[in-house]
Amino acid sequence: MSRTEPRIVERVDELQRWADRERAAGRRIALVPTMGALHEGHLSLARLARGLADRVVASIFVNPTQFGPTEDLECYPRELDADVERLAAIGVEVVFAPSVEEIYPPGDSTWIEVEGLTDGMCGPFRPGHFRGVTTVVARLFHAAKPHVAVFGEKDYQQLQVVRRMVRDLRLDVEIVGGPTVREADGLAMSSRNAYLSPEGRSQARALCAGLLEARALAQAGERDAGYLAELVRERIEKEPLAEVQYVEVRDAATLEPVERLNRRAVLAVAAVVDGTRLIDNLVLEETP
Ligand code: PAJ
Repeated sequence: MSRTEPRIVERVDELQRWADRERAAGRRIALVPTMGALHEGHLSLARLARGLADRVVASIFVNPTQFGPTEDLECYPRELDADVERLAAIGVEVVFAPSVEEIYPPGDSTWIEVEGLTDGMCGPFRPGHFRGVTTVVARLFHAAKPHVAVFGEKDYQQLQVVRRMVRDLRLDVEIVGGPTVREADGLAMSSRNAYLSPEGRSQARALCAGLLEARALAQAGERDAGYLAELVRERIEKEPLAEVQYVEVRDAATLEPVERLNRRAVLAVAAVVDGTRLIDNLVLEETP
């Protein structure tokens, strides 16, 4: 692959002008929103985007409005130069790396909030989180004017919330989900995995191990969603450093709670392991 250094854009109006020119020339723009500290999961989305459009914009913005007051905003890893290198290797044309003031000008007071879908799962554990996500994603869309935007299934609820925002506001952008990229032992890649001690890292495997065991049972015919969720909970809570926040089975599209597995569903989990909050999920395909 030919390697050209991406253009680094810090200002919204500059990105909008660039996007207008690309659109006028008939070129298709893909956006990959990220908070940086890029790993293979992020890069897989950039590669997916590369195949969907003529121009790829990756945004790197640690969005303060989606962090709670006791969360890790201050220590969230920031490594812009290394991230630009990683994106250059994929052939990303533009890296959008705005300041906080550029995205949230002083005096700013406009929010975008999706109700309902954000009530359960991660919602209650991270008050205000999804409001921060939808608000920043809408602003990123407004800045980059993408035809298509790529999000990871790793953050399954986030993906559905973004889809709903796009549907409700009739935004003219296609949302594409990319599969979760995992470490060799199955742990879903996350920028936050770097916080784990060696013991925490090894115990964190329980999330995906539990999900895989439950999925195998579902594939073998088990239909009781509550039973599968309980099994995952027990598997994770065997680990001394792990505390489950939720294990839930939800409709894969609407995120409504599911009791019997008679439709496509997502089995989702959040747990604090060694002081770090981790999430993971597996889709349980409809089986005859
Ligand atoms: P961040 O956590 O940096 O993730 C950026 C994108 O990468 C998201 O769409 C996320 O779902 C995806 N991703 C993370 N880990 C992944 C993995 N292991 N495999 C595949 N995709 C993965 O999610 C956010 O940032 C923010 O909320 C954002 C959407 C950028 C808004 O601020």
